Amino acid sequence: MVKKGSILTVTIADTVFPNKGVAYVDGERVIVHDALEGQTVRIKITKKRGSKIEAKILEVLERSPLEQEAPCAQFGTCGGCTYLHIPYESQLELKTRQVLELLADAGIQGFEFLGIQPSPNVTAYRNKMEYTFGDTEDGILSLGLHRKRMRYEVSPVAGCQLVDEDFLSILDAALDYLRSSNVPFYHKKSHQGVLRHLVIRKAGTTGEILVNLVTTSQGGLELAGLVQKLLSLDLMGTIKGILHTINDGKADAIQVDALHVLWGRDYITEKILGLTFRVTAFSFFQTNSHGAEKLFTVVRDFAGQDLGVVFDLYCGTGTIAQIISPQAKKVIGIEIVPEAIEAARKNAQLNGLDNCRFIVGDVLAELDNLQEKPDLVILDPPRSGIHPKALDKLIAVRPPRLVYVSCQPVSLARDLAVFSANGYRVVKVRCVDMFPHTPHVECVTLISRVENI
Ligand SMILES: C[S@@+](CC[C@H](N)C(=O)[O-])C[C@H]1O[C@@H](n2cnc3c(N)ncnc32)[C@H](O)[C@@H]1O
Repeated sequence: MVKKGSILTVTIADTVFPNKGVAYVDGERVIVHDALEGQTVRIKITKKRGSKIEAKILEVLERSPLEQEAPCAQFGTCGGCTYLHIPYESQLELKTRQVLELLADAGIQGFEFLGIQPSPNVTAYRNKMEYTFGDTEDGILSLGLHRKRMRYEVSPVAGCQLVDEDFLSILDAALDYLRSSNVPFYHKKSHQGVLRHLVIRKAGTTGEILVNLVTTSQGGLELAGLVQKLLSLDLMGTIKGILHTINDGKADAIQVDALHVLWGRDYITEKILGLTFRVTAFSFFQTNSHGAEKLFTVVRDFAGQDLGVVFDLYCGTGTIAQIISPQAKKVIGIEIVPEAIEAARKNAQLNGLDNCRFIVGDVLAELDNLQEKPDLVILDPPRSGIHPKALDKLIAVRPPRLVYVSCQPVSLARDLAVFSANGYRVVKVRCVDMFPHTPHVECVTLISRVENI
């Protein structure tokens, strides 16, 4: 019998979402965090509650046959990638299997599975990176990604596979300038210091770049030289704006106490499926621009033609609502972040779309206020999925069809089980890989009331 604290050698039999290995010890199922199927590992049992047993890896004794040399020196310590050491085809197989297992475990059956759509770009696919300032072991200012399982340390990003060279040229230039300015980085424990983050957005479809330096208001920073240095870079894309955000908040998440435009404008534009979207420093936009085109194409196909009233719930900046708009009489988007709705309205205007209405609010509350009956509901909730009470309300509205876009297959499976128990059937599912080298995957699901099939 497995006991908490025991140290064992096991072979990982399976990998389940997200990036958890499964081993069997004396018939008991042990979840081994960060393990990959095929590895032989020495583990320590960290938790045992009933049949729930968890372990951490102490040492990898034998690599998985899936593993190969990762094309990045920081792989393993940097928190950016998880599966960079697995061929892309195998990553797709792994994600597909994990989604299908989760759906099967939730009792979701009888649907058409349309496979997984690979990301159009397997490297340099990200359009946004948030780098953090820290220091190296010898105390020199550094700028990079958080190290795995470390709160304070950052890992350098030279050779990073997730972004193109423009990101790295901008990062190097900013770091070079700021090192010579002798301004300290912000210490999360003492709340002292100035430099917090460098956020770079580069529109994947237009090459427009927005650079945003995030600092506290402590200490004097002279930024004219930084602007000149960035503008003199020889980049593939074009810098359209350089911003300075003041954040004196104590939490890790970026809070905007003030936003100054140091040069140019405060947004970049993406062109997705023939529409233009303004993306500001902090607005949500899918992080893989070309992947987003694939994802939205699947949503558009699943939605079908000649639609009446469509609800786009959790609509963000209204990208899906606007893409669906030519196929619908009217689209109503609901989103909780006011700035996102502002951007959605502005973008719809820019795109000449007059049948989209955007509402700021919580889906749970706003569903009560809508008079219209939807012919189709599109849902793209956050990772936690649909709030159970919002799900009940939505089912009570009895939309004939829904298209559920999910970036978290665990909450998707949970919500689909509720639809299935309440007169709906899952008709078809397609996965879209928007996040190569990470455990994440998007799923698009068409759900229909049983009497409409
Ligand atoms: C995955 S994003 C969807 C983005 C959008 N479909 C797009 O592609 O641009 C989920 C969105 O749900 C919003 N959200 C989270 N909880 C919400 C709630 N209770 N009611 C309304 N919107 C919510 C978030 O602010 C976020 O913009």
